[in-house]
Amino acid sequence: MFSEFISNLKSARLYFLEFLFFDLVFIFSLAYLFNLSAFLVQTIFLVVLITIMLLNFIGKKRNKELNEIKTIINNIRKNIYSTSEEIKLSSNLTALQDDIKLMFEKTKSDIEYLKRLQKVRTEFLANVSHELRTPIFAIQGYIETLLNGAVNDENVNKYFLEKANQHTANLNSLLNDLIDISMIESGEMRMSFRYFNIDEYLQSLVNEFVPAAEEKNIKLVYKPLDKKLQLFGDKAKLRQVMVNLIQNALKYTEQGEVVVSVEEEPKFGKIIIKDTGIGIPEEDLSRIFERFYRVDKARSRAVGGTGLGLAIVKHIVEAHGSKIEVASKLDSGSEFSFKLKK
Ligand SMILES: Nc1ncnc2c1ncn2[C@@H]1O[C@H](COP(=O)(O)OP(=O)(O)O)[C@@H](O)[C@H]1O
Ligand SMILES: [Mg+2]
Repeated sequence: MFSEFISNLKSARLYFLEFLFFDLVFIFSLAYLFNLSAFLVQTIFLVVLITIMLLNFIGKKRNKELNEIKTIINNIRKNIYSTSEEIKLSSNLTALQDDIKLMFEKTKSDIEYLKRLQKVRTEFLANVSHELRTPIFAIQGYIETLLNGAVNDENVNKYFLEKANQHTANLNSLLNDLIDISMIESGEMRMSFRYFNIDEYLQSLVNEFVPAAEEKNIKLVYKPLDKKLQLFGDKAKLRQVMVNLIQNALKYTEQGEVVVSVEEEPKFGKIIIKDTGIGIPEEDLSRIFERFYRVDKARSRAVGGTGLGLAIVKHIVEAHGSKIEVASKLDSGSEFSFKLKK
């Protein structure tokens, strides 16, 4: 009881100066107005008593409110609340209650975001390790076979060396893609935008791939626009986009053709890469731009894919303020496209 009284007073000492000031003014006024000199001591005693009672009352109220807030903060710290709706303060503290609720929700969503990020990172690391192990195991296998005697077998030694060499190339492109993606995702990708003639640019790019297409008996064509068109972009980065898209089109097409074309729109130029290949199942379409996502892992690996190509493409196209689009039908072909500003 007494300790509660002391704690109430302690909590009200905030208002002590105001009360003292008021008391002094009050006592002096009374003394001056009514010439109370005879009852001065009694008056002071009465005023001090009333003041202490008032301070006790105010301190009690203040303590109650502070305790309410303390309880809420402790509960939050102990993770007692699962939703912000459970946070309740008395009616005169609703403004504070709403602020605490907002803070609670913000913290909750920040934590969830960090957890998600952590998960993505762990998965990425697991994927990278797995992808690195595959070619390294293969190379090791071929070398061991050669060392165990196959090196002297004229029928197979060249074959094993070629296989090992091919896996080394895969390893190299995986590392290059990893470097690219980590540069892009850590925000180190410097863009240098300028206007360039899209026709000349695509014509020479497509020409580079004609031998590869001929080797697979696929027709690779570039359909030029009938007028000159200047588009705005980073040529070096767009080269990476085009190389990835054309390589994919050639890799995942067994017969028919791959057509690269440009369409002019009022404000944009639309670049389209269309193939007559194996296509992509509807349910995979939304996921092919994720890192390491492949419709058919074995097939992708066999043709030297890393599963990172389209993730890189997406990043670069988005850095141009644009969006990569895909339309595809299983067994009849795919069409990738994106727009660049005029
Ligand atoms: N033109 C295409 N035709 C069919 N499937 C495609 C095409 N382009 C991409 N894909 C599918 O999307 C997956 C992801 O592509 P990408 O990120 O470039 O990885 P990869 O290294 O496997 O080529 C591929 O594994 C493939 O399954
Ligand atoms: Mg690819």
